Amino acid sequence: MRIAIDGPAASGKTSVGRTLAQQFGCRFIETGNMYRAVALAMARGLPLDAMTIDITEDERLLLNGEDVTGLLHTPELDQRSSEVATRPDVRTRLVALQREMAGRRDVVMEGRDIGTVVLPDADVKIFLRASSDIRARRRAGERGDHDLAGTIEQLRSRDERDSTRAIAPLNPASDATIIDTDQKTLAEVISAAADLVKEHLNERWHGV
Ligand code: CDP
Repeated sequence: MRIAIDGPAASGKTSVGRTLAQQFGCRFIETGNMYRAVALAMARGLPLDAMTIDITEDERLLLNGEDVTGLLHTPELDQRSSEVATRPDVRTRLVALQREMAGRRDVVMEGRDIGTVVLPDADVKIFLRASSDIRARRRAGERGDHDLAGTIEQLRSRDERDSTRAIAPLNPASDATIIDTDQKTLAEVISAAADLVKEHLNERWHGV
């Protein structure tokens, strides 16, 4: 089974995706971390063809064998990852890697273009929406950051870049179910997402 979860920054993809993966026995893959790792490697002066990127089963990101998981979620890499994500060579390389990972076992894969480009035939496609205000509050809370206006501005510029790039812009797939999270608790969003997976499993087993 392949479950695609897409949505803008801080829309709740990771919390929802990780829980679904546990619930349905899938591997969870955060593709954003791969773009972050490429941005980190480039900041270190490494060319794309000299990078190897692996994600372990327990979600550690290895860059040329070094565990860089703890270095990826910084404001600087938020922006740099979205810049490198506009490059065709980077996307071609990472999409191939993501498809290969999804071919090995059941996955919940989270990102921006999973339902549209990486796994267009995913079994369940979910797109999470949330207002920029709420997303900025969530992100500032996660990072212990008190500059809400600054966080809003950073999300805005990243949303803009992610949504207007020429390749694989952030967009719900035409067959994705959109979950609007503004008026929902995390538990409610998870439950709505889990219902979609159960519906799929029911259809698969009973052919309805
Ligand atoms: O966690 P957050 O939603 O803030 O970002 P992320 O999922 O870690 O992704 C970081 C950046 O990588 C995004 O702003 C996108 O530009 C890029 N990305 C992408 O282009 N395609 C994906 N499938 C995942 C991430």
